[in-house]
Amino acid sequence: MYYNDLLKTIKNDDLYNFNYLLKYYLKLEDNYINNKKKIPLFKIFKIKKALIKSRKTPLQYIIGNVNFYGYTFKVNKNVLIPRFETEELIENTLKLLNKKDISILDIGTGSGCIGITLKKELPLSKVTIVDISKKALKVAKKNSKGLNIEIKKSNIFSNVKDKYDLIISNPPYISYEEKIMDIVKNNEPHIALYAKNNGLYFYEEILKNCYKFINEEFIIAFEIGYKQKNAIIKIANKYLKNIKIICKKDIQGKDRMIFIMNKKN
Ligand SMILES: C[S@@+](CC[C@H](N)C(=O)[O-])C[C@H]1O[C@@H](n2cnc3c(N)ncnc32)[C@H](O)[C@@H]1O
Repeated sequence: MYYNDLLKTIKNDDLYNFNYLLKYYLKLEDNYINNKKKIPLFKIFKIKKALIKSRKTPLQYIIGNVNFYGYTFKVNKNVLIPRFETEELIENTLKLLNKKDISILDIGTGSGCIGITLKKELPLSKVTIVDISKKALKVAKKNSKGLNIEIKKSNIFSNVKDKYDLIISNPPYISYEEKIMDIVKNNEPHIALYAKNNGLYFYEEILKNCYKFINEEFIIAFEIGYKQKNAIIKIANKYLKNIKIICKKDIQGKDRMIFIMNKKN
């Protein structure tokens, strides 16, 4: 069967997933639509089976990996699927750094996407990634293969010993009352999504205790829920003195990142 004939059998709602799966299973580049080669029947079966599954399961879990900041990360149901907004967190963090050989702590690393990407972008850095979930750390370990990264099971700071120049985190930040899409709620680990105290629990815990784990010159970089900016600024000012706070929006124009750093003299 040719692409155009196959396309006629696909419902409009499935179109995005169909093209994604087709590209993945046929190992095609962007120009596959012009591809005049017949698609083998066994591949069509595979694609259609995955397509039906993708109505209830995120594509990334079906395929088992995701592209994040130009790198491929393995994912499974034990880790949050890395999001575009988190790529923006990395991009903005990199812009704020004025040296490359820094020490970095990624709290709630999940697939490892933040800490591992930073290690790849800043090979001279010393990176520690922590998570409370053993199953998530198993995924992060696979993703960090070949890289010199310290991986630890830790309940926030419980097992952290050193001090860092950068603490970065995309913690769980959804309040238990918030309604989220079924595909997220039914598939992604709730330990990665929800947080007590209106979704603010992790920001408060990190900011309350961070002084033991930061160097004199530091940056704390957070991804945040788009309605949490003011509450987090308040928490930061409650626990830290002499700080400068920078907030950034994501490409959708929503408040999405907060950077808290020492005031320079
Ligand atoms: C929103 S996910 C972020 C995953 C990944 N950093 C990313 O950006 O895609 C939050 C992560 O925090 C972890 N987590 C939840 N509670 C934690 C705790 N008490 N201490 C450390 N990590 C925790 C979850 O297991 C999950 O991997």
